Amino acid sequence: MEYFPSKIAPFTLKLLNLLFVSDRKLCFPAGSPACYLLPMPNATRIKKSTVRAEPNQSPASTFNEAYYKRFYLDRETRVRASQDHKRLADFVFGYVDHLQVPIRRVLDIGCGLGHWKKEVARKYPKAIYTGVEFSPYLCRKFGWKNGSAADFKGQGQYDLVLCQSVIQYLPDSQARKAIANLARLCRGATYLEIITRMDWDEHCNQDVTDGNVFLRPGKWYRTLLDRKFRNAGGGLFLPKSSGAVLYELEGPDPNR
Ligand SMILES: C[S@@+](CC[C@H](N)C(=O)[O-])C[C@H]1O[C@@H](n2cnc3c(N)ncnc32)[C@H](O)[C@@H]1O
Repeated sequence: MEYFPSKIAPFTLKLLNLLFVSDRKLCFPAGSPACYLLPMPNATRIKKSTVRAEPNQSPASTFNEAYYKRFYLDRETRVRASQDHKRLADFVFGYVDHLQVPIRRVLDIGCGLGHWKKEVARKYPKAIYTGVEFSPYLCRKFGWKNGSAADFKGQGQYDLVLCQSVIQYLPDSQARKAIANLARLCRGATYLEIITRMDWDEHCNQDVTDGNVFLRPGKWYRTLLDRKFRNAGGGLFLPKSSGAVLYELEGPDPNR
């Protein structure tokens, strides 16, 4: 179905892609006129799955300047825009506030370009933020602590542990260790975003999301997470030791 004359369509769609590109399938703000008028533009069309069971490059060589340019800085190819960071941060901080978890120390593992650092400073100006990175390039550039999610020791425990879009880059044994390590480091709440096989097939915009990762079933993660955390929904996990109160329907069905 074509809504645009074919000559102006490519230009218009490219412009819309620049404005609304996102790693999630829904690329138009819900309720916006574009949402009703347009079919999914070519630039954000979901391709047939091109899943790779394992990454084809070693992670150390992957996380270089070109990687961050492609996925974070170039407006045409980036996976998220700054308004996406703010919207997510508002949600996470709002939920953590609702659960009455006080935030003084924040650990951001696999912090990338440091998008969370800015959001943490905005919401919790007195909190101490620690960014940890596996990429030597980023550690040199931003001064992050060099380490891996699998065995970063840290200094004591942290009220909020952030680990966004990192664990899917780790092979199974490292991913297992990382989840246990996050639980060890966290005393308040952990925000976790991990792309699963189903996400790649059904939820991601494959044109902008990095598919060079380990795609595992959600159940694989749930089994590991359930040992150490209570799932609060929305990507938030509370360590078993946390006294935060979750109403029965705020978490997942324990019998599922
Ligand atoms: C998709 S980026 C996400 C960056 C950031 N968390 C964000 O959401 O903006 C993945 C990051 O994870 C880092 N990373 C990969 N393996 C890691 C590991 N084992 N431990 C810590 N960070 C890792 C990479 O260097 C890269 O910067």
